[in-house]
Order: sequence, then C-alpha cells, then structure tokens
Amino acid sequence: MKDWKIKVNSVLQLTPGHVCFLSKVLRDAPAEGAGLLCRSLPCGALSCSDKLHLTPRCRRSRATRSSANMTLAMTLWKAVVNVLCLPLHLMHAMGLYNIYKRIFPMCQSSFSIAYNTKMHEQKKELFGSLTQFTKPGGRLTLLEIGCGSGTNFQYYPPGCKVICTDPNPHFEKYLSKTMADNDHLSYERFVVATGEDLGSVGHESVDVVVCTLVLCSVNDIPQTLREVHRILRPGGAFYFMEHVVADPSTWSYFFQHVLQPLWYYFGDGCEVIRETWKHLEAAGFSDLKLRHIQAPLVFMLKPHIVGYGVK
Ligand SMILES: C[S@@+](CC[C@H](N)C(=O)[O-])C[C@H]1O[C@@H](n2cnc3c(N)ncnc32)[C@H](O)[C@@H]1O
Repeated sequence: MKDWKIKVNSVLQLTPGHVCFLSKVLRDAPAEGAGLLCRSLPCGALSCSDKLHLTPRCRRSRATRSSANMTLAMTLWKAVVNVLCLPLHLMHAMGLYNIYKRIFPMCQSSFSIAYNTKMHEQKKELFGSLTQFTKPGGRLTLLEIGCGSGTNFQYYPPGCKVICTDPNPHFEKYLSKTMADNDHLSYERFVVATGEDLGSVGHESVDVVVCTLVLCSVNDIPQTLREVHRILRPGGAFYFMEHVVADPSTWSYFFQHVLQPLWYYFGDGCEVIRETWKHLEAAGFSDLKLRHIQAPLVFMLKPHIVGYGVK
C-alpha cells in the first residue's frame, strides 16, 4: 500500500468536478481546499484518512440522485393510489360524483369548526386589519368567494356588509344558520357563482374580497384573481388564507403528491399540491403581504400562506 499527500485545489488545481470524482472514488466524500492523506488500495481504488467536506457540486449531484429516486417512488405510489381510486374516477366520469356536492357542506361545516379552533389566532390577526380598507365615512363592503358555511363571519368587524358567493347551492342551509349567529353583520345576498365568474358583481364595487381554503379548489386561479381585481375598488384588498404544497425536501410533499388523487374526491376537488403563492405574486397587487406558515393541522394541510394584497 502506498501513501501520498495531495493538496486539493492548490497543488493539483483540482476543479470541483475532479474533487467530486475523487469523492465518489473515496466513497466517504472528502475534499475541499485542505491537505488530504490518501492511499491506494489493492483493488486500485483510493482511501482517505481525513474527514473533509463535500464540495457543493458533489452535494448537488447526490441530492439530484436522491431527488430523482424520490420522484420515481412518488410517481409509482401515486399510480397505485390512482388504481385504487378507479371506482371514484369512474363515478366522476359518469357524473355520479355530483351526489357528494350535497354531502360535502355537512362535512365542511364540521371541519370548519375544528379548523377555526386551531387557526383562531391566525384568523383573528389576519382579519383584525380589515377595517383599514373601509372608505372614509362609509361601511366596509366585503365579498367572500367560496364562503361555504360562513366560517369567517365571526371575524368580520361589526356593521360590515357581506356578499356571500359559492358555486355549491347546498351550502345555503348552513350559511343561513351562521348568518343568524352573526347578527353584527349585514348580509346583502347569497350569489351562487364560481370565483372565475362573478359576472353579477359590479366593477370596483367592493372594498375587500376574502378567500379561505378556496384557491385549492378553483379550476383557474389566474382567472379568479382577475375577477378579484375587477370587482375590487382601487385601494381595496384581497385577503387569503390557503393551504399550499409543502417544501419538496419533506415527507409532506411526498405524501401530498401520493395521496392527491384520493384527496381530490374527499375534499370536493381540493388540490393540496398547488403553489398558490406564485399566482398571487403574479397577480399585479400594488402591495402584497404574504407569509408562509406551518398551521397546526394534519401534515397534508400544514403548509399555509396567509396575508392580503392591495389593488
Ligand atoms: C374547503 S371549502 C372552504 C369554505 C370556506 N371558505 C371556509 O374557509 O371554511 C372550499 C369551498 O370552495 C368552494 N369552491 C369550489 N370551487 C370553487 C370555485 N371554482 N369558485 C369558488 N368557490 C369554489 C366550495 O364550494 C367550498 O365552499
């Protein structure tokens, strides 16, 4: 066995590529900028005595490999879940899934009570700033997209005029009850409409638009945000609290992707793998206050974005 010393990146002028290659040969991945005691093994490979650091390039190439493996595993498991969801896919294709639209409001209104308990502080803080968008001497006019059972009403300031919209008319029963419980507000009407088409609402007619847990379900986020811009008065604001896709380096990201096909049906068209913040950043708000938070919820729904954009 023969020992020798090399000075990485100075004597031999090793490029990161060389160091990366050396690291692969040495398996233990040494080497940047320091002296390195290496020895040849009978098999012809090298071994190194020092414990040194990987170059960023090496780390990247390892990370790329493991992320490729992860993507492959994710795709395979997602295919398995898709196969298990075949009956649901079939029901959807045959239009039978629409029955769930009748049941979903009941599930949603129970879920929203639990959600509000866990997110009470975040909602209180977010909606606490609503009054700054009241016109001088006027009342705050607020339109909620996908209002569901009216989960957010308790957080709106007294005297606020609320226009409720949701494409699912079966929410009305639950909405009426929440309206009765929140008599500090005045309700204009319940419009059955999607966020993508709020045609019956006038241009620049509202001070605030609210969307919570809805941008995960709309078919077209950019179109919904265009509608928001159309109906907001100049200086008005769009408030949001939405769950989003997790960081790609996490298991949450993996499971969000694998379980998405099943979650879609369970959540009435909800997609947990959306990068919603990108759409908000591109929507042309003059000022966007957007925070990424980890909500105290099940891992699928943990990553959230919260804030508001001013028109
Ligand atoms: C998870 S629920 C959230 C309800 C309520 N915003 C909340 O925070 O409790 C999703 C809501 O989005 C509505 N929705 C689904 N697709 C929509 C669309 N394209 N435009 C507007 N709302 C939609 C559903 O009917 C449902 O009320």
